[in-house]
Amino acid sequence: MKTINIAIDGPAGAGKSSIAKEISSELGFIYVDTGALYRTVALYMCEHEIKDDKDIIKNLEKIDISLRFIGGTQCVYLNGENVTDNIRTPEISMEASRVSAIPEVREFLFDLQQKIAKENNVIMDGRDIGTVVLPDADLKIFLTASPEERASRRYMELQDKPDCPPYEEILSDIIARDYQDTHRKIAPLKQASDAILLDTTDMGFHEVCKEVIELIENQLDLD
Ligand code: DC
Repeated sequence: MKTINIAIDGPAGAGKSSIAKEISSELGFIYVDTGALYRTVALYMCEHEIKDDKDIIKNLEKIDISLRFIGGTQCVYLNGENVTDNIRTPEISMEASRVSAIPEVREFLFDLQQKIAKENNVIMDGRDIGTVVLPDADLKIFLTASPEERASRRYMELQDKPDCPPYEEILSDIIARDYQDTHRKIAPLKQASDAILLDTTDMGFHEVCKEVIELIENQLDLD
């Protein structure tokens, strides 16, 4: 049976994951956050103090990553251990962006992403889903917002946490990651030629969800 695949790409903090989560639960699709895979590779390398690209490549064979969907929520396992929460630190964000520029790391994660999309109706988010991982996706959306808006959304999310970084630090991390993700040689972050651009700088969460649902209803025959 042919599955339905929706690709959502865009820069860090554009709201891809919250939008994709909301919509996938409405549609009964699986939401796949591919950034978590790169974060998991980064976590392994950080925990083992492996820094050099050559050593990172050598150590990939020691990593087993699997995704489990519990009540529709993605949990990521690294060598059998649930690391879903451990991968969400600023250090791992930067390191994930760095390891994601290594072609062997991308190759290592490619099959897993394609297999999940082949076997399930998915909304998959990342940087290269519409361009590389699922070039034949049924619908491609490129979700973006200004760096300042993305930084301020992240700041609001983290504000109540004891270790919330200052706004300026969040903004400079976002700008640095945008640069790394768009300038790498392999599978850089870019809008696929057949993707629909959605700039959410001046849009609220529900407005964006409504717009994406409309796109899905107009472009896909889901009955
Ligand atoms: O979506 P995220 O912020 O969790 O992703 C972390 C990093 O992983 C991001 O800076 C770039 C990389 N990434 C990628 O290169 N390709 C993807 N499909 C998803 C993420």
